[in-house]
Amino acid sequence: MERTQVAIIGAGPAGLLLGQLLARAGIENIILEQRSADYVLGRIRAGVLEQGAVDLLREAGVGERLAREGLVHDGIELCFDGERHRIDLRGHTGKAVTVYGQTEVTRDLMQARQEIGAITRYEAEDVSLHGVDGVNPVVRYRWQGSVRELACEFVAGCDGFHGVSRASVPSQVLRTYERVYPFGWLGVLSETPPVSEELIYAHHPRGFALCSMRSRTRSRYYVQCSLEDRVEAWSDDRFWDELRQRLDARAAAALVTGPSIEKSIAPLRSFVAEPMRHGRLFLAGDAAHIVPPTGAKGLNLAASDVHYLSSGLVDWYRRGDSLGLDHYSERALRRVWKAERFSWWMTSLLHRFPEVSPFEQRLQRAELDYLVHSAAAAGALAENYVGLPY
Ligand code: FAD
Ligand code: DHB
Repeated sequence: MERTQVAIIGAGPAGLLLGQLLARAGIENIILEQRSADYVLGRIRAGVLEQGAVDLLREAGVGERLAREGLVHDGIELCFDGERHRIDLRGHTGKAVTVYGQTEVTRDLMQARQEIGAITRYEAEDVSLHGVDGVNPVVRYRWQGSVRELACEFVAGCDGFHGVSRASVPSQVLRTYERVYPFGWLGVLSETPPVSEELIYAHHPRGFALCSMRSRTRSRYYVQCSLEDRVEAWSDDRFWDELRQRLDARAAAALVTGPSIEKSIAPLRSFVAEPMRHGRLFLAGDAAHIVPPTGAKGLNLAASDVHYLSSGLVDWYRRGDSLGLDHYSERALRRVWKAERFSWWMTSLLHRFPEVSPFEQRLQRAELDYLVHSAAAAGALAENYVGLPY
C-alpha cells in the first residue's frame, strides 16, 4: 500500500495551494483528482484576488507571474439608473484587489508542483475515504484500471461542492445551511479589451450585469439569467445586446464585442457545512461552503481555509502542536460566515428578484442610493470587498 502524510482530494485551487504550502514545509502529500489536468485548466471561474490570497500565493512560491501580470484595482464601479458611481477601495481601506484569473492561479500551482516533483494522480476514479475518525485513514481509488490504496495521517477534502469528502462525514455530525437563488449567471470570455479600467457591477430592471476582465486584451462579462436558460439559446449577438442594455450609455457605447471563447451558465447558491473537521478529515474551499459569486469571495475563501489548515498541519508536524488543527473549523467558519453575509447582501442589492413587491424594489434602489452617498456605507462595502487580513 502506498503511504503519504497528507492525502489531498481535489486539484482545484484549494488542493493545489495546500499541496504546495505543505511540500515547501517538508510535509509529504499526494493529490487525487477526478478529472484530467486539461479539464481542470479549462474551467473558467473566479477573477478577483484579495491581498491575503496574493500574499499566500507568494508564500507558496507562485507570486512571480501574478505580480507581473495581475492587474491591481483600487476601485470598483456600481452602475444603476443609467449612472456609474465609483467605490474607492484604496481610499476607504488603504487596500486594493488583484485581477488574475483562477485558471492562471491553477496553471502556476500545477507547474510549481511539477517542478518540485510532488505527485498528482489525475483521473483518479471512485475515490472513497475510510477510517478518518481513527488515526490511520485510508483513501481507496481506481487509477489506470486498478484499485489502489493510499494510507495517510490526514485527509484534506478539497474536492469542491460535489465531491466525496463532505459526503463522507456522517449526517448526524454535519449541519448544513443553504439558500438557492432564483437565477443564474451567464458568463462570456472574449478576446476584446475591457469596457472600462475597473470592474462595473450593474443593477438594471432587466437584471444584474458584471463587466470584468482577465487582461488588457481579454474581457469577462456576466449577465443575470433565468435558471431555465440554456447556453445554446444565447448567441454571441444576443449576449452582447443584453449586456449593452444593462449598462450606462457611456459604457454601452464603449463596449467592444467579439466572438466568445467560452460561454457558460452557473446557478447561484449560498451553502455552509459545519463543522469543517471530522476526525482526521478537514474540509477546505467549496467542499465546505459556497457563496454566490457577486462578492468575488469563492476563491478567496478557499485560500483563507488553506492558510489556516496549512499552518495547523505545519505546527503539528514541526512541534506536535495540535492547537491550530483543533481550532481550524472555528477559525475558518468565522471568516466563512462574514463572506457569506457579504455575498448574500451584494447579491440581494444588485439582482432583480422575480416576484418582489414594488415596495421592495424601491427599497433596493434606496439602498443603492444610500451606498453611493454615504462614506460609512461605501466604506463598509469596500472593507468587505478587499477582505480581512488572515
Ligand atoms: P474546485 O475549484 O471546485 O476544485 C475541486 C476539485 O476537486 C475539482 O478539480 C474537481 O474535479 C475535484 N473533485 C471533485 N470531486 C472529486 C472526487 N470525488 N475525487 C477527486 N477529485 C474530485 N468564484 C468567484 O469568486 N467568482 C466567480 O465568477 C466564480 N464563478 C464560478 C463558476 C462556477 C461554475 C463555479 C462552480 C464556481 C465559481 N466560483 C466563482 C467559485 C470559485 O471558482 C470556487 O470557490 C473555487 O473554485 C473553489 O476552489 P476549490 O479548490 O475549493 O474547489
Ligand atoms: C469575476 C467574477 C466575480 O464573481 C466577481 O464578483 C468579479 C469578477 C470574474 O470572473 O472576473
